[in-house]
Amino acid sequence: MNIALFGFMGVGKTSVGQLISELLEMEFVDLDNMIVTVAGMDIPSIFRKMGESGFRTLEKKVTIEVADKDGLVISCGGGTVLDDENLRSLRKNSKMVLLTADLETILQRVEVDGNTRPLLFSDEKTKPIKQLLEKRMPKYLEAADLIVDTSGISVNHIAKEIIKNLDRTEKQ
Ligand code: S3P
Repeated sequence: MNIALFGFMGVGKTSVGQLISELLEMEFVDLDNMIVTVAGMDIPSIFRKMGESGFRTLEKKVTIEVADKDGLVISCGGGTVLDDENLRSLRKNSKMVLLTADLETILQRVEVDGNTRPLLFSDEKTKPIKQLLEKRMPKYLEAADLIVDTSGISVNHIAKEIIKNLDRTEKQ
């Protein structure tokens, strides 16, 4: 069984995933990092050179490869589970943990990260975040076995909360 962390950009998937993997002594994989390794360039360059569809093709390739494995903590990209085939393959063998955060928290976190996310390349990020969140949230909720709000909560606390609640989710 794997643990797949997913949700919008800036909700803390990578930092929470890394800590869970340490606490549970499971291997950690970050799908965005895998894509960067496969492509040999960073995410903005992939979007620039191959377009979003090129990025999504690489994302599907690494998602399907990882989803078949076992014992992993998987940090997904914000768009990974929006693709039905990605979601289906992840669900087979992963507990699906949705991380959420309020708009203010997302905004702060993505601003700290600088311009690393092509979907939020505008100076004014509130509107695109709101629009994308609204569009994606139904799918995120549908995909989730467990939902954890991360707004104003420490990474340590979130990781422990997830570990505590994982056993209560249906999949074994
Ligand atoms: C994306 C989120 C990013 C990255 C890419 C597309 C999205 O990952 O995969 O920029 O569609 O939400 P993070 O959620 O880790 O920022």
